[in-house]
Order: sequence, then structure tokens, then C-alpha cells
Amino acid sequence: MAEQQAVPAGPDLALGVKLSDFTTETLVGHIGDQDVLLVRSGPEIFAIDAHCSHYHGPLAEGLVVGESIRCPWHHACFDLRTGEATRAPALNALAVWEVEYEGERIFVRQKRKQTRPRGKAPVDGPRNVVIIGGGAAGLAAADMLRRLEFGGSHVMLSEDAAPPVDRPNLSKDYLAGTAPEDWLPLRPDSFYAEAGIDLRLNSNVSSIDTKAQRVLLGGGDTVPYDRLLLATGAEPVRLPIPGADQPHVYTLRSLADCRLIVGSLVGARRATVIGASFIGLEVAASLRARDIEVHVVAPEQRPMERVLGPEMGDFIRSLHEQHGVIFHLGDTVVGIDGKRATLKSGGTLEADAVVIGVGVRPRLALAEQAGLKLDRGVAVNPFLETSMPGIYAAGDIARWPDPHSQENIRVEHWVVAERQGQTAARNMLGQREPFDAVPFFWSQHYDVPINYVGHAEQWDEIAVDGDISARDCLLRFKKMGRVLAVASIYRDIDNLRAELEMEREAVG
Ligand SMILES: Cc1cc2nc3c(=O)[nH]c(=O)nc-3n(C[C@H](O)[C@H](O)[C@H](O)COP(=O)(O)OP(=O)(O)OC[C@H]3O[C@@H](n4cnc5c(N)ncnc54)[C@H](O)[C@@H]3O)c2cc1C
Ligand code: FES
Repeated sequence: MAEQQAVPAGPDLALGVKLSDFTTETLVGHIGDQDVLLVRSGPEIFAIDAHCSHYHGPLAEGLVVGESIRCPWHHACFDLRTGEATRAPALNALAVWEVEYEGERIFVRQKRKQTRPRGKAPVDGPRNVVIIGGGAAGLAAADMLRRLEFGGSHVMLSEDAAPPVDRPNLSKDYLAGTAPEDWLPLRPDSFYAEAGIDLRLNSNVSSIDTKAQRVLLGGGDTVPYDRLLLATGAEPVRLPIPGADQPHVYTLRSLADCRLIVGSLVGARRATVIGASFIGLEVAASLRARDIEVHVVAPEQRPMERVLGPEMGDFIRSLHEQHGVIFHLGDTVVGIDGKRATLKSGGTLEADAVVIGVGVRPRLALAEQAGLKLDRGVAVNPFLETSMPGIYAAGDIARWPDPHSQENIRVEHWVVAERQGQTAARNMLGQREPFDAVPFFWSQHYDVPINYVGHAEQWDEIAVDGDISARDCLLRFKKMGRVLAVASIYRDIDNLRAELEMEREAVG
């Protein structure tokens, strides 16, 4: 069969468009086979790649804020003038194009030269920066140090065997078998040496000597630091039940975990997922995509009710049931004997593989040993600095003063971890940038994405706009009339607007 050519979007911008035809805020066109987005911002028109550098989200459906555009899918942000990715999860800049005016027409013909990074490392800054953790926060910090042209020694220590990967994909497309493994690395292997990052894999940090300012590795080596970033993330909770230590019982955090699960699925017919958490249910969806019979066992009556409320919980349950998942709610697994899991209610489930997704616990051992102040996480100030000057913390372990909820919060979100890593990197080089991003996370179940912005541990009202079962809704979680968080399905632009409102509210 002949390969189908993708049809280029919109008008050919090299041939020009009439200004009077460009009446909206954005217009997608093309140059050759490349989609380019025209964006009107005040009196200026910018031309930028039409797709986000994270997962190719359509920027035409995003939100223009001043001279920036935000991606509708996971809220990355790009500078329209430079193309720079100013907010994670996108880490790569987009190409920007020259806009030429000729009479009543505008033309886009050539890319602008890449501009230099905005910030520069100060000459009297630290000489040795050490990052502990090769995950979201660690990689984003290392990448930001590179962008800032930090010229000192830059060591990244990770217990993992693999360089930093796109962890959210491990419970989604990669586990479902629809994404190849080469989509997973956040950066190509060559990146680290080229960027001057001394990435040391399989390196377990056993302790921190804060007086001598050095970290000690399990193998006996030491690494000195002037500035240290702790980004040790979280580890899955294991269940203290008989049989949980058998080889076909898994938790999922690392690429190595995921490879083991994928390997066990060859020839498997049935699986049990313990826990109806985000990860547990994403795993359930991915296993259904492999046509494996999936049973989910969880003590709650409704999945995700604690985070998303009862109506969304009911929807998520029925969505999974429509895809064949069998729930055993209000129940727990009390033991696993070979392939048979016994339920508290008395029944049994046969399973070729069991995946436990009952939550994670922040990895605080190093912070505790170093004598850092802990508060159900590592306590940090608005600049993400811990109680020990020169030592910063970011990601799943950090509890920071959130200006939006006005509480000290700790979350387990990919985008937050990356953005904190970036802020910590700037601050390690001497900037004083408070971390004030509104928390954001997404979760994907089959073809249904759920986007959540803000932070609501408790609420007294959920205002539902639209129809949850029709997969077109926006839920506002309110306390005493104030919107603390918003969750949505296919209301991306409204979700972006809610984020902006929360930002403005915190400033005002
Ligand atoms: C399967 C899965 C799917 C997810 N999906 C989503 C999603 O869709 N959306 C979302 O918002 N969030 C999602 N998350 C959560 C998100 O991945 C985390 O919030 C994020 O990875 C936290 O980043 P981090 O840098 O704090 O920790 P991590 O990414 O876990 O990185 C921690 C790093 O520290 C290393 N480390 C720990 N201790 C040591 C030590 N002593 N010495 C050396 N290295 C050490 C670890 O090996 C690891 O490399 C998902 C998580 C998982 C596991
Ligand atoms: S696709 Fe744009 S942020 Fe993910």
C-alpha cells in the first residue's frame, strides 16, 4: 500500500496570508511540510512551531499569555519571541520564524537564529554542584544548569541503571505496548557528556557529610559539593501480606520494574492490580490494551474519590468497567499463594501477575541522616532550600510553602518535580526565585485524559460544569466559595484559564 502523505495544515505561509484574513488570535499554516503557528500578541505577530516539544500537543488550542503560549495538554509554556521552553514538562525549545510584512500580507519564510539562553551562571557562583536523583527533578535541574551555562563540576548521582526516563509513560503507552522503549529517555545518552554532566548510574548515595560538604557513595567514593540538590523521589509502598515477595508480584516505579512487568505478561491471561490509585488504574488500562483479564482490588468504595470526588470516581469506575476491568471494591488482598490471591471477603483470584499500586512514600533517609528539617517530607523555604544552607530539595520529597493554597504542601506530580528542579537549579546558582507554580498533574485512562490544576485536600463543594459521563466537563473544587483546584476532561483551554486565574489571585 502506498504511504499516505500528511496533508500540511492551513495556508502556505511562504506564499503569505492577508492580514485581513488573520482575524483570530492564532492561525495554523505551513512552510514546506512543517506546521507553523501564527500568534497575535498585542500589536505583534509571532510565528512558532505549531506543536509542543513535549508530546506534540496542538499549540493552536493553547492559551496565549503576553508573549508566551501554553500547551493545552500538560501546560508547558513557550516564549513566543525565542521559542524557549519556559515551563516544564517541555524541555526543548521550539523553532521560531521571521514574520515579514509586505503591504497587506505577512510572509513566513525562514527560521530565526537560535538566541542565547536568557540567564548566565554568575562567575562567582558555586564550583561543584551535585544532584542526587536521576528522575524528573534531577534531570530538569541538570538541564537547567546546562541552559544557564554553568561551567563548574556538575555531578548527577542516580541509583537507577538507566538514564532519566519519562516515568509517566511507564504506566501508560510503554506498558500498553504502544510506545517503543526508545521514546522513554528524557535525553539521548550523548547529551550528558556533551552538556558536561557527569552522570553516574547505579550510584547509591549512602550518606551526606554536611560539615565536609561531600556525599558518600555506597561503594566508598566521595563527591564534594558547594551546592547539593536532593531529588530522591519516592518509592512504592509494599504490602505486608504473605506472598507479596514472590517474583510475579510487582510494584512500578523504574524502567527496570516496568521491564519486569512487561516480561511477565508474555503468555499471561489474568492479572490482579492491588490499589485503585492513579498508577494502579493506569496499569489496569494498559493491561487491558494487551487483552489481559484485569481484576482491581481496593478498600475504597469509589476509585479516586479522595482526590477527584464521588462523581468523577463513579465515572472512572464505569470507564474501566466498559473496558472490561473487574473491580473488587471495599475489599483487600490478604495473601498471595502462588498464582492465587485471597481476598478479605473470602474469595480468591487467579493471577499470572500481580501489580501493587497502593501509593508511594518519599525517600527521606538521606535527608534524615543529614539532619535536615523534616515535615512529612523535606521542609524547604520558598526558594526550595532546606534547613541547611546550600542544600536544596525538589520533587516528590519536598514540602514547600505553596502561595496558592497558603499551606505547606508536598505532591507527587511529574510537572511539579520538573519545575522545582528548574527553580532549584537557578537558585543554586545564586538567583532568588520563589517556587510559585500552580501544581498540575494529568492522568490518562484509555482515550480519556484527566487534567488537574491547583491543590485541594478538602473541599465543601464540587461545582460541575458540563457532563462527566459525556467526557466533557470541568469540576471546580471549592472551599468557602474559593476555587482551590480544577479537574477537567477535554476542557483544556478552561483548565489553562483556571491555572492563570489561580496565578493572578496569588499575586493580587
Ligand atoms: C508509573 C508512574 C506513572 C506516573 N504518571 C504520572 C502522571 O501521569 N502524571 C504525573 O503528574 N505524575 C505521574 N507520576 C509521578 C511522577 O513520576 C513523580 O511525581 C516524579 O517522577 C517525581 O520526580 P522526582 O524527581 O521527585 O523523583 P523520581 O522521578 O522518582 O526520581 C528519583 C531518583 O532518585 C534516585 N535515588 C533515590 N535515592 C537515591 C540514593 N540514595 N542515591 C542515588 N539515587 C537515589 C532514584 O533512583 C531516581 O532516579 C507517575 C509515577 C510513576 C511511577
Ligand atoms: S504535549 Fe505539550 S505539555 Fe505535554
